[in-house]
Amino acid sequence: MAGRIPQHFIDDLIARADIVEVISSRMPLKKAGREFKGLCPFHGEKTPSFTVSPGKQFFHCFGCGAHGTALGFLMEYEHMEFVDAIEALAGSLGIEVPREEGGKDERSNADLYMLLERAADFYWEQMKTSERAKEYLQQRGLDGRTARDFKIGYAPQGWDTLLNLLGKSSVERDGLLESGMIIRKDDGREYDRFRDRIMFPIRDSRGRVIAFGGRVLDQGEPKYLNSPETPVFHKGQELYGLYEARQALRDIPRLLVVEGYMDVASLAQQGIRYAVATLGTATTPDHLRRLFRVCNEVVFCFDGDKAGMRAAWRALENSLSVLREGRQIRFMFLPEGEDPDTLVQSIGAGAFEERLGEAMPLSRFLIQELESQVDSMDSVDGRAHLAELARPLLNRIPMGIYRELLLDELANHVGMAPERLSGLIFDQSRPQAKSAAPTNQAASLGRSNLVRRALELALHYPGAAAALEVQPQLQLVEKKGISLLSSLLEDCRNNPNISTAGLLERWREEPEAPHLGKLASGELLIDLEAAKMELKDSLNKLVRESGPDQRTDWLLKKASDTGLDPAEKQELRELLALRSTRNQADD
Ligand code: UTP
Ligand code: MN
Repeated sequence: MAGRIPQHFIDDLIARADIVEVISSRMPLKKAGREFKGLCPFHGEKTPSFTVSPGKQFFHCFGCGAHGTALGFLMEYEHMEFVDAIEALAGSLGIEVPREEGGKDERSNADLYMLLERAADFYWEQMKTSERAKEYLQQRGLDGRTARDFKIGYAPQGWDTLLNLLGKSSVERDGLLESGMIIRKDDGREYDRFRDRIMFPIRDSRGRVIAFGGRVLDQGEPKYLNSPETPVFHKGQELYGLYEARQALRDIPRLLVVEGYMDVASLAQQGIRYAVATLGTATTPDHLRRLFRVCNEVVFCFDGDKAGMRAAWRALENSLSVLREGRQIRFMFLPEGEDPDTLVQSIGAGAFEERLGEAMPLSRFLIQELESQVDSMDSVDGRAHLAELARPLLNRIPMGIYRELLLDELANHVGMAPERLSGLIFDQSRPQAKSAAPTNQAASLGRSNLVRRALELALHYPGAAAALEVQPQLQLVEKKGISLLSSLLEDCRNNPNISTAGLLERWREEPEAPHLGKLASGELLIDLEAAKMELKDSLNKLVRESGPDQRTDWLLKKASDTGLDPAEKQELRELLALRSTRNQADD
């Protein structure tokens, strides 16, 4: 496996790349003041609200809210994975991407990719000349164009056709073995893994062939034979058809997850070119993250029988951790005895998409399933049981609007106040429950806006944050977002020249990333100097409001360490006076 890309390289790459260049080489941008504007590529619009800021190295659309760094732009616009975006950006700057380990693997993998590509070429040639194979495709309803789009090939009969063609040297034969294309017996004899099978090449997100699935033409076991796990093929991560869907469609409205190679090819043949298949495994959160990088709607397609229901429930469980606002997951159940291939062939794409439109939202599937497990919702026991069943599921959904809405829906359904249900389901010791006292609400809101504002200032002007002396008491402030703020400020101090984009890239994998992205998107109508002052002020306020004692202690310590300025001296006098009156009152 390829090694990790070191963080310092990503920092450096973001610092060296110019987002204006990256974007303007792909779409027109016009200078507008200090920024650049253009028509947003992520939603339809007639007047430009897509803004690129060279200062922040960040883009933001005021129309649809899309935003991000140069890497983010490449991922969205080119439908690239993170690593591919890094490679592309580095490539455009003529820089090579280092790996923390496994440089050797990367190089030798290049040989495996080449071998696999040549194997796919060979199978494709064989398909063209084998009447038997062509007839099989025809009989399954696939035409030449679909075969070409997916490069569906044919592995001929015989034990050593591929071996003889691509395994002339012992190095090549080792490559064939490593890529899973041949099998080597204990006694050293070697033979082709795939014989007399229809061959589906499996591609990674960059379009490289990484494995094959091979189907028997007649009866025979196993029906499908797949490549084994290899250095370039990890079954649980890949999705058959995703690359092909991205090739076929500029805008992918939704992705349909089906079970089989034939389903994907057959749906594409009928004009539904956004289907992908997991490779005989359950859908993993990895899969889902990948899918949601491409679009915001995922529909799972399952058989309508018991086994299909079980598989659907597993998919639901694996989806919970990636749910959030704006993402939609639905479930489509097929009539018994049908799979997507047979159904789309019998009813056509139009009717199929109609059914797709009626697919069940995840929330409804979840509630329906839980209810079916509870005897009676009228009894106290029944409700307690339901809350019990829902607890582990809802706790896996990230905190946020999505979870709140789902909870409301569930509460509504069982006839319980959402707050009560929430109390039964979520851990009460969580700090978020603290702000319940109504008298505190205004104050806590004011303070949380202070945290938000400080985050915003630091994001827009990392340089202002870098120059700031931060009071250690800040970390003690009991306020949502404080630990995020502290670490962000630390990032700024440790990387004095970091840009907004650089900061955001450091947080890319964290759950806070979307929040930070939003904060970075707004416009700040102040300059660096003003930002410095305001940030300093906000942090001081935060500490002060968090409790006079912490502030007093800090000022006392500072007085003996470095001395105080006149304003601080005055503040300390007041605080000490306050402390002594309070102490008297306590006595
Ligand atoms: P199915 O058995 O549902 O077959 O397997 P299918 O896709 O409908 O195939 P056709 O229509 O008979 O050609 C679904 C998926 O499960 C995996 C494959 O990925 C297949 O596409 N599978 C199935 C295997 O890996 N091995 C098998 O022997 C069978
Ligand atoms: Mn089938």
